[in-house]
Amino acid sequence: MDIIEGLKTRRSVRRYNPEVKIPRVDLEKIVEAASYAPSAHNFQPWHFLILEDAETLASMRSVQPWTAFTKDASCIILVCADTDVSFHREKENEKWSYADIDATLAAYGVLLAAHDLGYGACFCGAAPMPAVIEALQNKFDLPANIRPVAIIPLGVPLDKPAPVENRYNPQKVHWHKW
Ligand SMILES: Cc1cc2nc3c(=O)[nH]c(=O)nc-3n(C[C@H](O)[C@H](O)[C@H](O)COP(=O)(O)O)c2cc1C
Repeated sequence: MDIIEGLKTRRSVRRYNPEVKIPRVDLEKIVEAASYAPSAHNFQPWHFLILEDAETLASMRSVQPWTAFTKDASCIILVCADTDVSFHREKENEKWSYADIDATLAAYGVLLAAHDLGYGACFCGAAPMPAVIEALQNKFDLPANIRPVAIIPLGVPLDKPAPVENRYNPQKVHWHKW
């Protein structure tokens, strides 16, 4: 699929065929492609935790309430950032980190690669919600420096979401001055 076509035709898919599993080879293709995302200083701080067991898929809403539909997914890819590795500052008068931005770019890669392979996926938020971060860290025994940024269920789509409306608004494009 052409990249511009992929950008324009990707939709959040929340209905999956619970009977069909995505083969491991395709999951590897997806996370491999997502790993080519840009990142601050090219530090590539992302990790992908792939979860396939039925109990986990059915229980995600207890940690993030807007993920009930993960129960029918083939798997979840939890995209995380290693906050020790990400480009960041931890000084008294200057505290910031590119961790969430880097991991979100990798997460978008997961969405686009899944779309290209014909699978359905949906970005579900984790960071920056502190309660969700903590619940995911506890549930999956994540080290303190591993910050979950996106919960992405993937599966074989049961239906194709309607084509996206035109989202391009030329008034949001500012040429040469605001
Ligand atoms: C940061 C972020 C958090 C999101 N969290 C959720 C979520 O918790 N549950 C959900 O069903 N969709 C979630 N979405 C998906 C959005 O609802 C969806 O992208 C938006 O409605 C546009 O639809 P589209 O993805 O089909 O273009 C999230 C998207 C983003 C970018």
